[in-house]
Parts: sequence; structure tokens; C-alpha cells
Amino acid sequence: MMDRYAVIGNPIAHSKSPRIHAAFAAAEQQALHYEALLAPLDGFVVTVDTFRQQGGRGLNVTVPFKLEAFDYARQHGTLTARAELAGAVNTLRFDGAQVLGDNTDGVGLVHDLQHNLACPLSGKRVLLLGAGGAARGALLPLWQAQPAALWIANRTADKAVHLARLLNQPAVEGCGYPDLDGQHFDVVINASSSSLGAETLPLPAGLFAPDALAYDMMYADTPTAFLLQARSLGASRVADGLGMLLEQAAEAFLLWRGVRPDTAPVRSLLRPTPLWMN
Ligand code: ATR
Repeated sequence: MMDRYAVIGNPIAHSKSPRIHAAFAAAEQQALHYEALLAPLDGFVVTVDTFRQQGGRGLNVTVPFKLEAFDYARQHGTLTARAELAGAVNTLRFDGAQVLGDNTDGVGLVHDLQHNLACPLSGKRVLLLGAGGAARGALLPLWQAQPAALWIANRTADKAVHLARLLNQPAVEGCGYPDLDGQHFDVVINASSSSLGAETLPLPAGLFAPDALAYDMMYADTPTAFLLQARSLGASRVADGLGMLLEQAAEAFLLWRGVRPDTAPVRSLLRPTPLWMN
């Protein structure tokens, strides 16, 4: 029987993960089966247990179950350091009775920035917008890329200050949007859910340093509200989160199968023409 994997969420029908992992498996000549698993909102644990009893080897976890997946791994197995700091799990690996909970979102983001977008973070001034689960997941991998400064700005400033304290480094700062006045950043990453509601953020003029990159963790078939705003504020380059989606998937595949697939062919499958001409 082929090893079974799945993405678990609610809703799940529109997930791109089955296509991505099927393409990875074909390219790497790995015999595996990957499906979409809809769990009832109150039935995450039961669905996971059943999947494991049927021989399931690993899960990608998406909305709204990343916190429950964290608890599941903490109870039944171990967590990686990056999952621990993220407070959320997006990848589970099952090895008999053993459970490993990981979070590949942040490392996927950093890989997309540094490799696909050729934007090294070392020595840069980096700003993360938002202080919810998405921002928290990115925090440790961003810091490990050794930026000169890492700021977190949030509508509710206290939450940004709290996140910054998790890292406990003088170069890491949490603040509200008004505190961004007069500051400049080389890389500005939107981890807030503002683009979901097509809302703009209260960003000051001059926020983007020359040659700055604006990155939205969200992705869509058309440019997101944040990317449009960033362009109008003078960001030189913009990118959305499709690359992050692909890279977090590649990291999960690596955790499960020991090989890291090339994401470029799958990217052109999912987005044949570039979203923007940078
Ligand atoms: P996720 O898991 O996607 O991060 P979340 O944990 O609910 O979702 O966090 C949503 C983030 O988006 C928060 O930082 C939220 O700001 P608050 O903490 O002040 O609520 C931010 N957010 C959502 N809509 C926003 C908007 N219109 N403007 C600014 N920030 C917004």
C-alpha cells in the first residue's frame, strides 16, 4: 500500500496542497497518496486518530486547526523548536506511535524571500505587519536570517510588543502603526489578515527604503490590497504568498520523505503568467 498523506482543514475543497504534493511526488519519483481531508469543526482529533489508524504517515494542517495540531503533537509526541515558538503546527509526521509536530510556514517564507526573490535578509531592516498566528509563525525563522532589525507592528500594539518579547533581543521591537512614522524598512511583510477584507493598513509615507520589497503572505489571482498599497507608497518590488505556500509544502515534503523538491515547476503550473512585472 502506498504511504498516505493529506491536508486537513475546514473548509478544504479549494486547497492547492493536493496538487502541489502530487507534483512533488511525481518529480521526486516518490510513491505516495495525498488527499484533502475535511474535518468537522469539532472533530479534529477524531479525524486525525482515524487517519493514523488507517496508516496515515503525515498531515499538512490548515485553517482553523493549527492550534489544535499544536496541542495534539504536544500531547502525543514532540514539537520542533520552531513549532514551539510559533505556538502552532502546520505539519504532522506519524511514525508508528510517534508524532512530530513542526511548523514550516516561517522557514517557507524565508526561503521564498532569500532564494526565489533573491532578497537576502542578513543586515536588512525587516518589518512584520500583524501579530496573530501568521506573524508568530514567521518570527523565529525571520530572526534566524540575521536581519539588522526586526520590527513587528500591529493594530493592537500590545500584541506586537508581546510577540517581540518572545525573542528577547534588543534589535527586535514591537509597536503600533503610529510608531512607524519616520522609520524605513528594506523588507515589509504583511502577516495581518487585512488583505482578506481588501483593507489597507495605516502605513506612513517613506516606510519603504529604496529598493524595498513588499511581501504579502496572502495570495490571490490578482494583486492583494496590501501589495497595491505598497506600490503606491513606493515599494520597488512586490510579491504575494504563493511562493511561501510552495516552500512550506516543500519543507513538509522534506520532513516526511527526506528530499526537498524543486518548487519552480509547480509554481509555473499554478501561476503560468507572473502576477506583476517587477
Ligand atoms: P492569523 O492566524 O491569520 O494571523 P489572527 O491570529 O486572527 O489570524 O490575526 C489577525 C491579525 O491581522 C492580527 O494581527 C490583527 O490585528 P489585531 O491584533 O489588532 O486584531 C490583524 N488585522 C486584521 N484585520 C486588520 C485590519 N483591517 N487592519 C489592521 N490589522 C488587521
